[in-house]
This record gives sequence, C-alpha cells and structure tokens, in this order.
Amino acid sequence: IKKYGHQPCVNIGTAGHVDHGKTTLIQALTGSWTSVHSQELKRGITIRVGYSDAAFYKCKICEDPLGYSTTPKCKNCGKESELSRVVSFVDSPGHESLMANMLSGSALMDGALLLIASNEPVPKPQTKEHLLALQTLGIQQIVIVQNKVDLISYDEAISNQQDITKFVKGTNAAKAPIIPISAQSGLNIDALIGAIESTIKTPERDESKEPIMHVLRSFDVNKPGIKLKNIKGGVIGGSLTQGTLNVGDEIEIKPGIMDEKKKSYEPLLTEITSLGTAAGIVDYVKPGGLVAIGTKLDPAMTRSDSFIGSVIGKPGTLPENSTQIKLEVNLFDSAVGATEDTKVLPIQVGELLRLNIGTAPILGKVSKIKSNSIEVELRRPACIFEGGNVAISRRITDRWRLIGAGILG
Ligand code: GTP
Ligand code: MG
Ligand code: MG
Repeated sequence: IKKYGHQPCVNIGTAGHVDHGKTTLIQALTGSWTSVHSQELKRGITIRVGYSDAAFYKCKICEDPLGYSTTPKCKNCGKESELSRVVSFVDSPGHESLMANMLSGSALMDGALLLIASNEPVPKPQTKEHLLALQTLGIQQIVIVQNKVDLISYDEAISNQQDITKFVKGTNAAKAPIIPISAQSGLNIDALIGAIESTIKTPERDESKEPIMHVLRSFDVNKPGIKLKNIKGGVIGGSLTQGTLNVGDEIEIKPGIMDEKKKSYEPLLTEITSLGTAAGIVDYVKPGGLVAIGTKLDPAMTRSDSFIGSVIGKPGTLPENSTQIKLEVNLFDSAVGATEDTKVLPIQVGELLRLNIGTAPILGKVSKIKSNSIEVELRRPACIFEGGNVAISRRITDRWRLIGAGILG
C-alpha cells in the first residue's frame, strides 16, 4: 500500500481588494501565515501567491454550523470531531499591480472565497476585477466573505450586505452565500467553514489518465553554505489536474528552458526524487490540492519561481510547445481595475496583449483577427491545451487590465 497521507483534495482561492483580509483569513483557517517573504512583509501586501493547507472537522453531535472547526476537538462541545476534508488555499495578492499573480493562482482554483471588507464602500476596484477574473477562468463555486464586521455596527452590516447583494447581481457570484466574519478575531469561522463545505465541492478527477501538473512555484530549498554532497535538487510546486505521480517517475517539463545554441526552448527531462504535501512526505500524489516535487534538476534552475507556468507530465505525453496560438475571444464592455471603468475597444492587429495561459503569464502580439477569433504570436513558447481558458489583459494607461476571456482553439 502506497502512502499518500491526507493529500488535500481541493484548491480554494482567495480573491478581493488589497487589505480586505485575505491572508488574515487563511491564517485564521490554517494557523500559518502565508506571507513568508521578507519583501512582502515589508510592503504589507501578498506578492506571490502563497499557499498552505487546512483540515476541516465536523462534530458528530453539534448542529450546523456550530460543529465545524479546524481542530479535531469540537470548539462547541469539546467532544471528538470527524475529519471532513483537507483543503489547499491559494492566497491571491490584492494589489492592482499584482493581477498577473492573481490570475496564475486562479488557474488552479476549484472554488474561491471573495473577501469584501464591510467597513468600506462596495465595490472597490479589485473586488470587481478579481470577480471578473474568477468568471473569466470559469470558477463558479464562490463563497462571499463579508470581513471586518468587528469594525461596524449591526445596522451597518445589514446595509453593507445589501450593497454586496446588489453588486453581485447578474455575476457568477449572484447565488453565493454571504458570510459575515471577523478574520482577525476569529468570529463566525465555523459558519464560514460550513458554507465552504456545502458550496465548494471537490471536483471529480481522473486518476487513471496520464498525469498533468501545472506549476505555480519553484524553489531552491538549500541553505546558503550547504556541503555539496548534501545539496537537494530543485523543488517544483503546483497541482495535478489528472493522473498521479510517483517517486522515481521520469518526468518532462514544458516549455523547458532556453537553449542558447539552438535559440529555442527545449523541454527538460528529470526524475522525481521526493514528493510532499503540506501534510508531509508521501510516495505518490494525485489530483487535488497543492503538491511539491523534488527533482534531480540543478536547484539554481528552480530558484525564485522561475518555473511558474510550466507543465509537467510523463515524457512524450504533453502537447508540443507552441508560440502561435488561436483564441476565441469574448471581450468585456469595460475594464474595471481602476477607480474609473474604461470602455474596452476592439483588439487591433499588431497589438501587444498579456495572456494568462494556465499558470503562465505570457506576452504576445496579435497577428490576425477574424471576427471573434484572433491569432497571437507568443514571446516565448507555452504548452497549450485546446479548449483551455485564457485571461486577456491589455495595457491601459500604466497598468495591465483584464479586458476579456479567450478559449484556446
Ligand atoms: P493583500 O494581500 O495585500 O491584498 O491584503 P489582504 O487582503 O491579504 O489583507 P491582510 O490579511 O494582509 O489584512 C490587511 C489588514 O487588515 C491587516 O492589518 C489585518 O490585521 C487587518 N484585518 C484583517 N481582517 C480583519 C478583521 O476581521 N478585522 C479587523 N479589524 N482588521 C482585519
Ligand atoms: Mg494578502
Ligand atoms: Mg495587505
């Protein structure tokens, strides 16, 4: 019997305007602070897409939602609870300049928590832009989290909730439950877990297919000054959408790295030396939450998320690298990320767009347009899956703004 421990089975993302409490909520749910990078602690914003896991428990005796907690002992009655699910969180940055990171993380989300600070007018620019991003990438399972209710009165909370309902009308969050909480004081977290458990379902995935893993992070786990013989190979983090990976498996990473002699990207071949989830070291991983794989790659290669956007599979099973892609485009009426919305003008031949393809943000130049279909010449190759969702952004004044959704043809 192979050991897979309690691998998380679902990826839950956060979305919402800067400082509305996304990271504080993940901390309340997992007991770990996802902003571990010193630079982002300094700036007080989540720069990278942080991730961590949580276990949700349900008391056998207490009524909903009192019995939900993140500990095996019921917070309400003190008796033993049952494990409901282990989940992974993909924590998004709220700052408008970090929209590309948010979109990369969203590619792995099965459902999302849309955080809205109740002490501010609704909606703020990234509340709108993040909700649109979720819609673009087809994320339907949403729980709205009305945060910071410790800062307002009961009447203000009711009126804020009405504003939220009005704002999400006609969007993919129209039917989402709205749960008032205080992430900072841990208020109403049981009700939130209850809403997550009933709203964000674990998707069905095929473990019998060839594995496909989308990469969100990559690291060098070695401490400076380590002895050569103790050096560990490059570590790559992400999530499988199908299939399984085992320790000892040969893998191929696409698009790979730039071969300076050939002047083209060459896929990389390596072997899995270890596998881990937040729960520990395991023998194999399956689709679901976030996993990390240890490889025989030079750790300098995987440093500082250099492999973000890559795709991993068994050698010879992944689609070819491509730089020419075709998209069926659906443009929005307006771009929403700034204080003022701007009308979205049609896409032009020769225009530079930023495309989020899977977890990869890639720039590309539009080479052809035929009604709703466009062709784009990518600046670097990507591993393309037909039918996949693409988020399309354009530079408006000084920022990349989400302007539409595309489907890979
Ligand atoms: P970005 O990652 O930068 O987009 O921010 P964020 O949404 O992750 O917000 P973060 O969790 O960093 O919280 C921002 C500030 O709000 C911090 O000072 C938190 O302590 C505070 N905060 C978060 N939740 C609550 C809450 O429920 N009540 C109160 N009063 N403050 C909160
Ligand atoms: Mg944050
Ligand atoms: Mg912040």
